[in-house]
Amino acid sequence: MGDTGPAVSRRAAGVGQRDDEDMTSPSPTKVAPGLTGVPETLLWTLYQRASEAARPNPVLVDPWAIDLCRRIDYPFVERFGRAGGLVAQAIALRALAFDRVVCAFLDEFPDGVVAALGDGLETQFWRLDNGRVHWLTVDLPESLRLREALLPAGGRRRALACDARDPRWAVDAAATGTPVLVTAQGLLMYLRPPEVRDLIALCARSFHGGGLVFDAVPRWFAAAARAGLLRTPGGPALPGMAWAMGADERPALHTVDPGVAEIHAIPVPRGRGGVWGRLAPALDCLGPVHDRVPTVTLLRFADRT
Ligand SMILES: C[S@@+](CC[C@H](N)C(=O)[O-])C[C@H]1O[C@@H](n2cnc3c(N)ncnc32)[C@H](O)[C@@H]1O
Repeated sequence: MGDTGPAVSRRAAGVGQRDDEDMTSPSPTKVAPGLTGVPETLLWTLYQRASEAARPNPVLVDPWAIDLCRRIDYPFVERFGRAGGLVAQAIALRALAFDRVVCAFLDEFPDGVVAALGDGLETQFWRLDNGRVHWLTVDLPESLRLREALLPAGGRRRALACDARDPRWAVDAAATGTPVLVTAQGLLMYLRPPEVRDLIALCARSFHGGGLVFDAVPRWFAAAARAGLLRTPGGPALPGMAWAMGADERPALHTVDPGVAEIHAIPVPRGRGGVWGRLAPALDCLGPVHDRVPTVTLLRFADRT
């Protein structure tokens, strides 16, 4: 691991033994997030990853996530219900799918740039740091304020308060001239369809030889969120989701921009238990099912030549 903060590296060993209560127990340095709407969802994904990471034998090893939950002054259990189970594992497996794409990119380009759009309180940098990667976190100002209050910045990590729809971040990411992988985990569903197309085209034109990895919810899920039907056990409805995509719509991404050279389906890693260990991998190859479940996709962009 690269620059590990002292608090976390001290806690790293044995964190898998913690349970929910321990994760949200008082800590002397708690920070109040003050987030609402879409930015507040970064607390939900963090909570799920931390809950999974706190299990014995987690699918995602993430001591930083556990530590962050302990340092945030937020009623996680009241707002989101008890974390754990299938949802926590699903969110952790999604993060693991992204980790695998980033690892493969860093194997190819160890000094590359990862531009993490809507990075929230993702701790992927610390899970994957190879000692050379340059990490650019791009997020809305209110989310970034919380991240900067909780996670160390500097060195090979930079943060930009910028809307993902504003091309300014792409100019910044491309400035070093090294290959760029853009990640958009848990973000695109909150943009409108033309904005998603514009974002893909911006990436294809800005990052020759690079890529974009993103997840998508299926259309029925976005419709249910828009109708206010998806509620956390603690009460709040998930924010409305404007963009959705089934696996069957992947080929159409070629039409967004001629720079989209390759489209790869990223499989959900095999998890634990009946659902994520056996059922999901078995269904993964069934087209009709695949069109109705969340997906992760990697786009690779053409070289300039
Ligand atoms: C569901 S959270 C995901 C956070 C993180 N990627 C994860 O997986 O835990 C959504 C994130 O997207 C950010 N976000 C929402 N709309 C955005 C926009 N237009 N531009 C940049 N970030 C945005 C939010 O602030 C939040 O950090």
